[in-house]
Amino acid sequence: MPERTLFVGARQVVTCAGPARARRGAEMCDAGVRANVAVLVEGEHIVAVDDEAALRRSEASAEIVDCVGGVLAPGFVDSHTHAIFGRARYEEQELRATGVPYMEIARRGGGIHASVRDLRARSEAELFALAEPRLRSLAAHGVTTVEVKSGYGLTLDDELKSLRVIAKLAAALPMRVRATWLGAHEIPLEYRERANGRREYVELLVNEMLPVIAREQLASYADVFCEPGVFTVDESREILEAARASGLQLKLHADELTAGGGAELAGALGALSADHLAAVSDEGIAALASAGTVATLLPGTMLFLGKRDHAPARRMIDAGVSVALATDFNPGTSPTTNFPLVLTLGVSQLHLSVGEAMVAGTVNGAAALGLANRVGQIAPGFSADLALWDLEDVRELPYWYGAGRCRASWARGKPCHVHHLALTFPR
Ligand code: NIG
Ligand code: FE
Repeated sequence: MPERTLFVGARQVVTCAGPARARRGAEMCDAGVRANVAVLVEGEHIVAVDDEAALRRSEASAEIVDCVGGVLAPGFVDSHTHAIFGRARYEEQELRATGVPYMEIARRGGGIHASVRDLRARSEAELFALAEPRLRSLAAHGVTTVEVKSGYGLTLDDELKSLRVIAKLAAALPMRVRATWLGAHEIPLEYRERANGRREYVELLVNEMLPVIAREQLASYADVFCEPGVFTVDESREILEAARASGLQLKLHADELTAGGGAELAGALGALSADHLAAVSDEGIAALASAGTVATLLPGTMLFLGKRDHAPARRMIDAGVSVALATDFNPGTSPTTNFPLVLTLGVSQLHLSVGEAMVAGTVNGAAALGLANRVGQIAPGFSADLALWDLEDVRELPYWYGAGRCRASWARGKPCHVHHLALTFPR
């Protein structure tokens, strides 16, 4: 019989329990905070969430994890990262601060192009060694499921190299790692310089990269950076339709800096998520609501780029859109692995309630990855993905901003990150 573990002694258990799908509109308010309950885990799954005294009696032989008065919550789902990169790009932060815009840095061959040059020169082993501590750092901030994109390779070999690193991370780490192919992150400079280069690159993506990636099952999702100056709406549609025909699920970087019809496209394609959306139009919001496409908001990116026009989260929630929060962890626009800091920004900049922010970081993040039927809730049948916080009340999670209060996390019932080693003792 698989091992049974009983998590006891939490002052609050934030269950996020409810329907196993994205929560929309007013459904997002309720994070299901409970007191005096224990959580019973058997093997990889949660099997009961019930009165603590009763479970202690009926499960007298279970191993005990004492949550020592902390807050137990579902592990966070970081549904948008670009964690496979080489060196940092701190020089660009100063450039932007002194007035050179993000897109201008890219036009000068920096930005994504700089990370592409760097990644192409590195081996798979080197990229793995760089990415592994980054994902562990996410786990140390309570993240137990992470989506990781390729997109700094932009050749067949370099995209395959990046996706193989993600597959190795998935096998090596206790956290759940899901891969996204983002070959359409930029038009590489060598194609930008050619007369028909844009078209040639789109054809390379669709006809050469995609078939190999689909055949080798190196990605679950496909994503495109749909933005004026990068991929147009028509190019994005062509790439994503081909990806869908190859069996990949769809995501889209949409309306990050300019309203360009990205959210409308994500809705029309029935994408799992549209991400960024700082400049989304009213039509875009309506399209996301009617398609049930998750709006993944990345306020850390806006903060880091020094932009004040955050995504209109309240208008989206009022329109019935499901909102998720993620880090966008990447070397150019969001070099942070601090998931709770993103919750802080969700509350202070996007005007979410704490309950909404918790649902956005768990259930709705899972839905943005098509995993809402097994991840994101502390409820029977769900994966035992848990994070224990050294806090008395869940409202402290966004409050102590920038702090590292995660005491431990578990994915599929296995320790993912343990800050406090004396937590577990046999009964
Ligand atoms: O999500 N928008 C495109 N991609 C990343 C930035 C990548 C970079 O600057 O390296 C983002 O912000
Ligand atoms: Fe991104």
